[in-house]
Amino acid sequence: MRVQKTYWTVALMLLIAVYSFAGSLNTNTGLSLKELGAKRNVLIGTTATAWQLIQDGAFSDIAVREFDIVTPENAMKFGNIHRTEKAYDFGEADAIVDFCLSNNLKVRGHTLVWHTQLPGWVEIFKNDKGRMKKIMKDHIKTVVGHYKGKVAYWDVVNEAVRDEDGELRETVWYKSIGKEYFKLAFKWAREADPKAKLFYNDYASEIFSKKSDGIYALMQYFKKEHIPIDGIGFQMHLDLANPPSREVIVSNLNRFADLGLEIHVTEMDVKTMDFKGTKKQMEKALAQVYQDVFAACLSVKNFKNFTLWGLTDKYTWLSLTYGSVNYPLIFDNQYKPKESYYGMKRALEGM
Ligand code: XIL
Repeated sequence: MRVQKTYWTVALMLLIAVYSFAGSLNTNTGLSLKELGAKRNVLIGTTATAWQLIQDGAFSDIAVREFDIVTPENAMKFGNIHRTEKAYDFGEADAIVDFCLSNNLKVRGHTLVWHTQLPGWVEIFKNDKGRMKKIMKDHIKTVVGHYKGKVAYWDVVNEAVRDEDGELRETVWYKSIGKEYFKLAFKWAREADPKAKLFYNDYASEIFSKKSDGIYALMQYFKKEHIPIDGIGFQMHLDLANPPSREVIVSNLNRFADLGLEIHVTEMDVKTMDFKGTKKQMEKALAQVYQDVFAACLSVKNFKNFTLWGLTDKYTWLSLTYGSVNYPLIFDNQYKPKESYYGMKRALEGM
């Protein structure tokens, strides 16, 4: 009898030890990312296409279960939604918005004024300032107006600052309209939907650099000029071979929060192709980056949104862009949660 009791006590202790070890590795709460996010007052987001949301059941199940907000990957870009001067094509974007609103997901509009994925017809008018202003106004008023009350956040201007020196990028918008294009873009977006929150969005801005200093100067200019902006998006396309430190992210992002801006991460993913090590080591390092970056952001003032540029490694723009396989996200090709998923949960649980 006594032997049996000892046996059960030891077995129970072992079981507890195994569980708490597994818990320390994985976190054991059955809560979804968005349920944990709600406790920290942060929205969890992913990008998506209409096909992924409507035709790929495994994808949409995860999107609805784990996420609060969706950014259309390409459907709202100028070249997709406004391919010819006279005609707008809202087809894919409407399908995404309808799916989201009927599944309790918010939508981030991406993006109104950008130099990439622009249709050829816009460039034809590049030497006509008045015409370029009119094109921009018509585009913003029509697209934002179409989604009035449905799109909660807009990336109004995307990637306007140069990587190498932080000066303004010589885009067709800047060259034809001048610096005034920022003020006009935000003003017209605000007029078209006064309740939508308006953002400036850029990449390679998470650490201190000439580029992030340039973006900071641009945001100071916005404030000085009373340009109606609500927040700034940090795309957060990272490289596992060279991830940013927690401390740098916190102090860099806090300087933007001190300008009164809401802080969002808008496109996080991590390029893995240059990591040196085994796949197992890579996934472990990736999980640490997700945990560290998210934990850093959670300690930044006014931090409200953490969006990933996708959810499964099956669909990632990185593998297509670099022509080399990458594993940048938090679900694997079979939609199984990866260690990085648990890394995000650990950050949300304050570990
Ligand atoms: C990418 C899309 O993921 C690709 O499908 C497309 O071919 C190119 O654009 N910064 C942005 C996003 O703001 O719009 C980009 O999305 C990724 C980089």
